Amino acid sequence: MNASESTPTSGGTRPARVRTRHLQDAKDTGRRFAMLTAYDQFSAQAFEAAGIDVLLVGDSVGTTVLGYDSTLHTTHQDMLTFTGAVARSVHRPLIVADLAFGSYQTGPQDAVNHAVELMRAGAQAVKLEGGEAILPQVRAIVAAGIPVMGHLGFTPQSVHALGGHRVQGREHAAADRLADDALALQEAGAFAIVLELVPSGVAERLTEILAIPTIGIGAGPACDGQVLVWQDMAGLSDFHGTFVHRFAELGADLRRAATTYREDVEGRRYPGPGHAFS
Ligand code: KIV
Repeated sequence: MNASESTPTSGGTRPARVRTRHLQDAKDTGRRFAMLTAYDQFSAQAFEAAGIDVLLVGDSVGTTVLGYDSTLHTTHQDMLTFTGAVARSVHRPLIVADLAFGSYQTGPQDAVNHAVELMRAGAQAVKLEGGEAILPQVRAIVAAGIPVMGHLGFTPQSVHALGGHRVQGREHAAADRLADDALALQEAGAFAIVLELVPSGVAERLTEILAIPTIGIGAGPACDGQVLVWQDMAGLSDFHGTFVHRFAELGADLRRAATTYREDVEGRRYPGPGHAFS
């Protein structure tokens, strides 16, 4: 690690700017790392202050911010807007942006063009979903000098093809296919792979056979890193999936704050004397 790029902390030396190589160091030295989704200034700044290593500007912005019922509706333009917001707000975390549905499935050139635009918006790496079928896209993006994060298991952009939100890789053959896909992504140059809704044992096997880090969401404790959608992690959404721990209850807090605000306005307690200009 370049000394000018690191800052000493009570927990050891943390890079001033997290790079893909730091995630590899984490895997190689057995240090777990945390990734969270982020889509806007204040959440991104809170997560940077909390020492989160990787911020994912996920296409889940469609379902957590824009009111859609699946990530299929999130557009490339949406991804550019929210990637820019996060990139302008933080300095330390590695910023990974999702390639939106339809922005890479159409071929390697489209994939490179859209990845380039995400990088220009401030991303430092891009993520796309799938294995074997998207290897030409992964190779082309990597060849363009853009770091690629893979995403296997339950891949939300394929929710209809997969028959809904279902754990993937339970049968032996499916687990073997996941292993083949993971190794192929690594061979194609991916620097890390998200494993979503995969049995713990399968995620453990993939984490062992891969040289690059795995990042789990609903994939058990063996992965090198973990990721959650921040509104689930902080209890703002009403999602209570088995794999989610709600580390706060922001939804309840927000409802309480808004209720008190309304009551104080209606009861003429707000604004008070200290909230006005003379
Ligand atoms: O878009 C997203 O939030 C994701 C995570 C579920 C990994 O891809």
